[in-house]
Amino acid sequence: LRPVRVGLLGIGTVGGGTFTVLKRNQEEIRRRAGRGIEVTMVADLNTALAQQVVGDAAQIVSDARAVIANPDVDVVVELIGGYGIAKALVLEAIAAGKHVVTANKALLAVHGTEIFAAARAKGVIVAFEAAVAGGIPIIKALREGLTANQIQWVAGIINGTTNFILSEMRDKGLDFDVVLKEAQRLGYAEADPTFDIEGVDAAHKATLLSAIAFGIPVQFDKAHVEGITQLSATDIKYAEQLGYRIKLLGIARRRDNGVELRTHPTLVPMRRLIANVEGAMNAVLVQGDAVGTTMYYGKGAGSEPTASAVVADLVDIARLLDAAPAARVPYLAFQPDEMSTLPILPL
Ligand code: NDP
Ligand code: HSE
Repeated sequence: LRPVRVGLLGIGTVGGGTFTVLKRNQEEIRRRAGRGIEVTMVADLNTALAQQVVGDAAQIVSDARAVIANPDVDVVVELIGGYGIAKALVLEAIAAGKHVVTANKALLAVHGTEIFAAARAKGVIVAFEAAVAGGIPIIKALREGLTANQIQWVAGIINGTTNFILSEMRDKGLDFDVVLKEAQRLGYAEADPTFDIEGVDAAHKATLLSAIAFGIPVQFDKAHVEGITQLSATDIKYAEQLGYRIKLLGIARRRDNGVELRTHPTLVPMRRLIANVEGAMNAVLVQGDAVGTTMYYGKGAGSEPTASAVVADLVDIARLLDAAPAARVPYLAFQPDEMSTLPILPL
């Protein structure tokens, strides 16, 4: 089979990791996907940086639209971020009949309904494993491994930056601003770290989890969102003395009359496993009626952990590239006829 030809939009933290992982593990990936996966074109505003990462292994351009227009690109990987140009590019890629992989939870949590509808109409895949909990394959777990279950709730530490800040403030007595700068340096924080510290990023991810767990549309506008900016070192210290850790949790819970969708700092008893998830690590708990409680743990942010999820999506697409659109249906997500009418409950 001919290789899958990939166009990368954005070669920053995640884009660079994706290129590196695809290159380093190309033989294993070829065997597992049943065909090669090759990055043939890269777009980044900073073409000098792209040149450093990619060398002459792929064509480098500054105009992302040139990637979408290239008939030799099968899959567009959007790793620019934000709602602006990224939304236009994803919709244009879909309209051009390209499959899309994205790590952009902000885009999908806010514009997912429009994007998934466009993808369904075209019969192309929009895959987004990297958008929730970085390297933890939580979308796959919910969609595939737990598919026999009625999901009752999903709850987790799904923002690495804030968990890193809370851990470092507690363990090292460091100031909030100092730790935030370190999270930015390590590539954990969003381009605008307000999204991390105000709970918006975790709420974006909780919104995506609620959609997959309960088959409801993505409805970020109805989510309850609180971040960690009101917390002080004293709050963290008193919580410890009382036997609790403060964790920013994203929660989606099914009730009889609807779904709770909330993100806020939570006092978690220290004896719980999730209370001991430290640094930029993420952990997600899922409660299903058949399986009971399951827990998924791993790196929720950073270059290669996130790339691991992007490449997993590329392998799925490689396996389905020549399949009829009907065979791709499980990967198209959010089929309208399956969507539950459960409302998001006001808090
Ligand atoms: P970066 O800022 O590191 O990378 C984005 C890259 O896109 C930069 O090189 C930027 O160039 C480039 N870019 C910006 N605008 C354009 C454009 N119009 N055309 C082409 N290139 C452009 O971001 P990350 O890699 O950290 O994040 C990418 C996405 O992945 C985001 O959606 C983020 O939320 C998501 N994500 C990030 C994780 C992480 O740990 N970092 C984890 C999970 C998801 P320049 O710098 O010159 O502006
Ligand atoms: N800024 C995000 C975080 C990146 O800190 O979790 C991973 O989605």
